[in-house]
Amino acid sequence: MELTINGQTHQVDIEPDTPLLWVLRDELGMTGTKYGCGLAQCGACTVLVHGQATRSCVTPVETVAGAKIMTIEAIETDPVGQKVVEAWVAQQVPQCGYCQSGQVMAATALLKQSARPTDEEIAGAMVNLCRCGTYNAIAAAVREAAQA
Ligand code: FES
Ligand code: FES
Repeated sequence: MELTINGQTHQVDIEPDTPLLWVLRDELGMTGTKYGCGLAQCGACTVLVHGQATRSCVTPVETVAGAKIMTIEAIETDPVGQKVVEAWVAQQVPQCGYCQSGQVMAATALLKQSARPTDEEIAGAMVNLCRCGTYNAIAAAVREAAQA
C-alpha cells in the first residue's frame, strides 16, 4: 500500500484494516501521534487527512491510501500549523503534553476551515480531551493563532 504522509511517499506491507495510528507509530516510527483510548473518544491520535482532523486510531489504513496525510512531525511546514505552534508556545499550553499533538492538529484543521472562529466555533471544534485541563489555554492559543 502506498501512503502519502507529510509530502513523502511510503510503501507499507500491512493488513488493510490496520489502524492508521499503528502504521504511523509502529511501521514508520512517527511517534508524535499518540495513543490514548483507541475508541475515537479522546483525540490524542488526531492527524490531518486532506486537511480534516481525523482520529487515526479508528481509521483503517486502506481508507487513506492515496490521501494527503499530515502528522505533527510536519505541522510547522504548514503555514497555518506554524502559527498554531507559535501560539501554543506563546501561551505555554502544554502541561504533561500527552494530548497536545492531537490538540495542535485539531486547532490547525479548525483554522484551515475558519480563519476567524468565534468562541462557540472554537468550543465546538476543540473537543479533544486533556487530563491536565488545559482547555482555557487551548482556547486562548487558538484565538491568538487566528489573530496572527
Ligand atoms: S486514541 Fe484515538 S481518539 Fe483516543
Ligand atoms: S497536557 Fe496533559 S493531557 Fe493534555
